Amino acid sequence: MNIKKLIAGSISKKIDGINYEDIIIESISHDKGDYSLPCFSLAKTLKKSPVQIAEDLASSIEMGPYIEKVEIINGYLNFFLNKINISKEIIENFNIKNLKLKDGNKKTVLIDYGSPNLAKYLHIGHLKTTIIGECLARLFTQCGYNVKRLNYVGDYGTQFGKIIGGMIKWGSLDDVKERGNDALQEYYVRFNQEEIDNPELSQYARDIFKKIEDKDKEIYPIYEMIINIALKDAKHMFEILGVKFDDYRGEMYYSQYVSKIINELNDKKLLLNSEDAKIIDFSSDNLPPAVILKKDGTSLYITRDISAVISRYEEYKFDKIIYVTDIAQILHFKQLIKIIEKMGYKFSQDMEHVPYGRFSLPDGKISSRKGKQAVLVDLLNYALNKANDIIKDRKFEIEDRENVANKVARAVLNYSVLKVERIKDCVFDVEKSFSFEGETAPYMQYTYTRLESILRKYETSEDKADYSCFNDDAFSLVKDINDFSSIIRLSLEKRDASIMCKRIMDMCKTFNKMYTNCKILDGNHATTKAKVNLVRALRDCLKVGFYLICIDTLQEM
Ligand code: ARG
Repeated sequence: MNIKKLIAGSISKKIDGINYEDIIIESISHDKGDYSLPCFSLAKTLKKSPVQIAEDLASSIEMGPYIEKVEIINGYLNFFLNKINISKEIIENFNIKNLKLKDGNKKTVLIDYGSPNLAKYLHIGHLKTTIIGECLARLFTQCGYNVKRLNYVGDYGTQFGKIIGGMIKWGSLDDVKERGNDALQEYYVRFNQEEIDNPELSQYARDIFKKIEDKDKEIYPIYEMIINIALKDAKHMFEILGVKFDDYRGEMYYSQYVSKIINELNDKKLLLNSEDAKIIDFSSDNLPPAVILKKDGTSLYITRDISAVISRYEEYKFDKIIYVTDIAQILHFKQLIKIIEKMGYKFSQDMEHVPYGRFSLPDGKISSRKGKQAVLVDLLNYALNKANDIIKDRKFEIEDRENVANKVARAVLNYSVLKVERIKDCVFDVEKSFSFEGETAPYMQYTYTRLESILRKYETSEDKADYSCFNDDAFSLVKDINDFSSIIRLSLEKRDASIMCKRIMDMCKTFNKMYTNCKILDGNHATTKAKVNLVRALRDCLKVGFYLICIDTLQEM
């Protein structure tokens, strides 16, 4: 039900060029009605006072079943709705299937997210790309798009020259086989440290990378082995985060098309020589130049991204491709999109970078194996401990404790990422986010279990539901339920889940207020039925909403 449209439609007197629906607002306080039409903006056109306009319009209103009365206060035309009829209409016509939108017409959207650099442990920043990307994937799917989840792993580049260099200098193949990723990380960190005082090491690493690019018989198999070890670890982390990618082809895979791309760029006269390197000039686009090939002929991050997007277009004929990374890569994607445009590919218009602000931990709160850059696995373990802590006194009959702890830990982390406006930096609030009180993920999960428990206890009756028992909180929930699909749309359109998070939190708070002030299962068949109908629709909205913001639901906690 579009309430604003309904109200606008009730006004028989029309004004040329004015759509009342665009002016109508929700009233701020209940004594001013439910919706209001401010007449000030009409005064100029109609050359009448706002009060007079309000009076004219009011006299032309056809009340119908949904509008109870209208009142004029200082140039505002206030509408009081018939809450019983509106609630009945909205609640009894609600169907969870209606939240599945068809906007996307099955268009194909590729989302490139997660995408860690395999030379390093996954750090807490990866939680952001992974969860924001996953949330977008879910939102696009919910809105009727055909989504592909792509993890463009950073498995190529000089950093692998460093790891192999480190292994040759301070380790061995056996050490790698024995200690796996830990050994690789150690070589990498040490190499970077020693490089500071021994700059010749940089050249050494570049030479090894050159051998990787040339598929050197000795080096290439070592490189492949290293990648497999690191990738296996990364995949395990994504599994813990509950995210499944369709594709893990990364920089190494797409590097096979680099020489073809270089020829194409040459043919299109886009490459310039600059001190033996090949660059693309953007002086007319107000961007700094981009290096495409280094002196030794090796490719760069951007070179591989050019080849990846062209190859992905050939493969998927996508309608949109979205890249989720931190704001540090804004320039990279501006250049990438410009290059694709300069190459004459129309799909450059369908490339979109979705950047996000930094995620950090408060100093010294969570000890991490890596000191400077907090490692994701440490954060996950910390969260799991905390989650176990807050549920330790609870008894479970349906769910098992380990399952609950896992779901709570993940919910806390995911919510802490998504609740903040995407582009803003955020610090993980260690103290407050693990609590059943306040605006936290466990509070939301707990509210959901309350709804489920009411529905379990309710025994169906044949009576007709009586909505006259709905108070302001109940009616506010009715409106939120009615509005839920537009919140899904808006969150997708803005690429910002914080909109959705805020609405879900508000709905949970309103429900808990209603729950404390009125008994749901009140012994009266007709009013109970109305309230349970509301609870069911709310549960369905939250079920979809929680899924979209990557929070698992629980039956009890
Ligand atoms: N591996 C990169 C990083 O860790 C992110 C890759 C994003 N995707 C892309 N197609 N460039 O920063």
